[in-house]
Amino acid sequence: MGKLKIHGGSGLEGSLQVQGAKNSVLPILAASILVRGESLLQNCPDLKDVDAAISILRYLGCSVTRVGSDVHIDSTTLVRRDIPDALMREMRSSVIFLGAILGRAGEAVLSLPGGCELGPRPINLHLDALRALGATLEERGGNIVARAEGCLLGTRINLTSPSVGATENIMLAAVSAEGETVITNAAREPEIVDLQEFLMAAGAKISGAGTSTITIQGGGAKGPVTHRVMPDRIVAATYLSAVAFAGGRLELCGIVPGHIEMVTTLLQTAGCEIETRGQGLTLFSKRRLQAISPVITRPYPGFSTDAQPCLLAASVKSKGTTVFIENIFQNRYRYVEELRRMGADIKLEGRVAVVTGAERLCGTSVSATDLRGGAALIVAALGAEGETVIAEVEHIDRGYDSIETALRALGADIERVDG
Ligand code: EPU
Repeated sequence: MGKLKIHGGSGLEGSLQVQGAKNSVLPILAASILVRGESLLQNCPDLKDVDAAISILRYLGCSVTRVGSDVHIDSTTLVRRDIPDALMREMRSSVIFLGAILGRAGEAVLSLPGGCELGPRPINLHLDALRALGATLEERGGNIVARAEGCLLGTRINLTSPSVGATENIMLAAVSAEGETVITNAAREPEIVDLQEFLMAAGAKISGAGTSTITIQGGGAKGPVTHRVMPDRIVAATYLSAVAFAGGRLELCGIVPGHIEMVTTLLQTAGCEIETRGQGLTLFSKRRLQAISPVITRPYPGFSTDAQPCLLAASVKSKGTTVFIENIFQNRYRYVEELRRMGADIKLEGRVAVVTGAERLCGTSVSATDLRGGAALIVAALGAEGETVIAEVEHIDRGYDSIETALRALGADIERVDG
């Protein structure tokens, strides 16, 4: 298990290309099962969660090869329809395979996901939707057994809340169903649009992703298909928060500025200058930021819960008081205790975090509590005085491809050490 050692306190400057999106590539890897042939995914980030998804595909019988950021999957040879508990545990979001395996094989057996670092992770919306499509679901020895007698039948599904994973699972199951499925109150995240684009490239008939109503005509998908994974908007938000906090200039390339507009608007309010052009943007920060109006997490296009920890870390020395309200996950503030150890003044009450700007932040030993909370500690360490050592960096490796290499390119003093 490695640690990250960071000497903070100096500005950052340079240009970064943003990696492919974790939350896009995972459902697309699941979708490759439906293709019954070859899929080539380009711009695939090198992450622990991607490795876990590839292990699942291989277990199911698919052939998967990786050359650099190209991942090639051939799902013609799929033979299994279950995912063992050990593989399910490697990646919390492996429930995303449920709709795809069920659609392809007529049956899927997965162990039930428990809670995670962010709190309970219920999947009731996924299961209700699969039942609405005609699947029978049974709980057996900690496993969920989903079966489609004959085939799934398209229907109207109104999600009581716009769950990202449930929307993706329904899309994946509905591609193999007979007839039309209409999802209302669907999640509108850009990753849903990317999944639609992959499925359309494989010949599936889907429209509406990016809006609250998605329509899927059943009829299957077919390879070969080539798809370039969209850039990771949360990684982009992380690097922007880091440079906003440490001070300096960051040019981000290969992004979709519209995907991170909520983050850039808040950083501008905090005093950063941002210039956007085409697929890139440049941020300038003079270091001490201003407190910003309440930052409230909401489903897209609202401010993303995944960007909350890094923006909060960037606000701990701001002039004034910044209030954060977390509406998506119960346990998303676990990293706050670690920031306090560095000298941050943060009061927590349920969903609300009140950050009073501290004069200084001091490096110390801290532990990553989860993926984005770990990234927030890196942001804080870059703007802190002295040395910070971050333990349990395996959480960060789930979602960031060579984060220390990227930050070193901006002049950060960061290294990975054994520990
Ligand atoms: N929820 C339910 N029932 C369900 C499904 C969700 O009550 O059946 C609740 C969840 O407990 C949560 C809320 O609805 O409180 C939102 O959950 P959602 O299903 O939208 O999230 P997800 O699909 O599990 C994805 C991302 C998360 C991101 C959320 C919200 C992936 C692999 N994960 O999770 O990413 O925070 O959407 O945008 O796409 C991360 O990257 O760090 C991360 C946690």
